[in-house]
Amino acid sequence: MPTTQRPAQVVHEELIAWVKQTADYCQPNAVYWCDGSEEEYNEICQKLVDKGTFIRLNPEKRPNSYACFSDPSDVARVEDRTFICSLRKEDAGPTNNWVNPKEMKATLQALFKGCMKGRNMYVIPFSMGPLGSKYSRIGVQITDSEYVVVNMRIMTRMTLQVWDILGKDGEFIKCLHSVGAPLAEGQEDVKWPCNPNVKYIVHFPEERAIVSYGSGYGGNALLGKKCLALRIASAIAREEGWLAEHMLIMGVKSPDGEKTYVAAAFPSACGKTNFAMLVPPKEMEGWQVTTVGDDIAWIYPDEQGKLHAINPEAGYFGVAPGTNCKTNPNAMATIAKNTIFTNVAITPDGDVWWEGLTQEVPDGLIDWTGNPYDKNSGKPAAHPNARFTVPASQCPSIDEDWENPDGVIISAFIFGGRRSTTVPLVYQAFNWNFGVYLASTMGSEMTAAAFGEIGKVRRDPFAMLPFCGYHMADYFNHWLQFGRNLEYPPRIFGVNWFRKDENGNFLWKGFSDNMRVLKWIIDRIRGRVVARESSIGWMPRYEDIDWRGYEFSREDFYKIIRVDSEAWKAELLAHEELFEKMYDKLPKEYIAMRELLLSALWRLPAKTGLASER
Ligand code: GTP
Ligand code: SPV
Ligand code: MN
Repeated sequence: MPTTQRPAQVVHEELIAWVKQTADYCQPNAVYWCDGSEEEYNEICQKLVDKGTFIRLNPEKRPNSYACFSDPSDVARVEDRTFICSLRKEDAGPTNNWVNPKEMKATLQALFKGCMKGRNMYVIPFSMGPLGSKYSRIGVQITDSEYVVVNMRIMTRMTLQVWDILGKDGEFIKCLHSVGAPLAEGQEDVKWPCNPNVKYIVHFPEERAIVSYGSGYGGNALLGKKCLALRIASAIAREEGWLAEHMLIMGVKSPDGEKTYVAAAFPSACGKTNFAMLVPPKEMEGWQVTTVGDDIAWIYPDEQGKLHAINPEAGYFGVAPGTNCKTNPNAMATIAKNTIFTNVAITPDGDVWWEGLTQEVPDGLIDWTGNPYDKNSGKPAAHPNARFTVPASQCPSIDEDWENPDGVIISAFIFGGRRSTTVPLVYQAFNWNFGVYLASTMGSEMTAAAFGEIGKVRRDPFAMLPFCGYHMADYFNHWLQFGRNLEYPPRIFGVNWFRKDENGNFLWKGFSDNMRVLKWIIDRIRGRVVARESSIGWMPRYEDIDWRGYEFSREDFYKIIRVDSEAWKAELLAHEELFEKMYDKLPKEYIAMRELLLSALWRLPAKTGLASER
């Protein structure tokens, strides 16, 4: 079979054997060893243009950028087709799908035989994390998707240097991917090959291997991201004593020049990218936010008990709808060029559009299904999970240390979901354990981009429900133990930008105004402000929030930070549903903490929630 020259740097026998064996089994037309160069990127993009998969956007509006439409059956991660195939079922836990690895391998073997017929097989060397950092990991992805190759070049460090780092016997994570759409002799390809009927996203944590079949989209197919950097990495992190988290990392500079880094976990499509790129309101002069990462954080303790965090990714795979010059000007600037757009709408002048980009819907759009858009159809022109893929280096707010191999030092963790009731704008957990409890029991209301019934609260512990590569209760214990090992564990905060009034309107403007909350968090970390005790944690006093440029009355403030006893009693009862699922391994502390929280609620006048107003 034709093959490009294997790079001289590849001397890893096991890797060479794996590539050969995979090629023999999957029977691609040719084997192509990627070098990660710009030339290669341009060539493969051109190939995708020639095939009709990519549409080159107007170079005057959006230089060096492409749009593409996926198959309508292949638009998001498939959680029900995602498996953690640990040797023992109890190591995957009640929140993951599990199949015996032997059985799963037999299933996959049947699917992979000849599955790359008529396609090229690409070998992608990549580093998650800065090249050569002691915190980074190497992966090698084999794929038959050109779309995956060019997206991986943006999202990871994909370069020949990876082979040098790997050497003869270095460790790497095997990532095997096929769109699962072999072509018969002479059969013409479709624009978005995938398998509409059969999808498997499979992890073998003990072997540190990933096999993905049938999808070409996002987290299903770009295996460095959720599969490696979260599911496999979380299992490794547990063994080795560090954290692999679904978190953004941001730097916050105060007017006196002092810099603080925080990491924040919000569930999918709940505002990590927005928060990571926050532009403070102009009245808050001197405050500045810088971006280290928008989706994943790897966090390592050092001997002094400091936490070093790196962003393992090199690009952003961000939600397009809702992004505009007001909500996220930094993202808008980032995606001005060199960007791949998936499932957005296209304007008649060859640019992109999505719901929320402009108030008015332009005429003559092509929607994400590739058809002329009918404004009266009641359907969106861009898919709700439409995304951009773009190099992080293009972000105007990128942090100067975003590629520092030593990471940045984390001073606080923030957890937040989408809650229209109950959860206050911000509160600080009493201590590490209560913070871990708050993160474990975090809930979020589902949107069109998430899974399940729209509006219903889904418990999404640490925003890791779909991404934890082992038993969720073991993960809780890992977090508790992690804190016990630290002399000064970071402060933990809960936030909620999404609380609504009786009429269903957001009580909080959000976006840049979230800086006001962030400032209070920084002030707390630095010991600059006192706080009020409430039954669930420490709350800000009205006078300690910077209100310059935002008219927000004391009354409004109480509406949004109010701890309603009745609502919280119901909330605490709902935690039981999660605990019950994993009671055999649930940290014993959780039952005690729930009782303590409940008892504190009894202290309050039931309806007024006055504790936060004292
Ligand atoms: P993944 O990439 O899926 O992990 O998600 P993410 O957390 O990075 O999500 P993203 O930042 O793309 O979330 C976008 C959604 O959150 C959009 O619907 C935004 O309108 C909404 N959003 C972000 N920040 C705010 C805010 O402060 N207030 C309100 N009301 N909505 C917000
Ligand atoms: C998420 O769903 O949390 C994402 C998008 O960040 S994907 O990479 O497709 O999982
Ligand atoms: Mn994510």
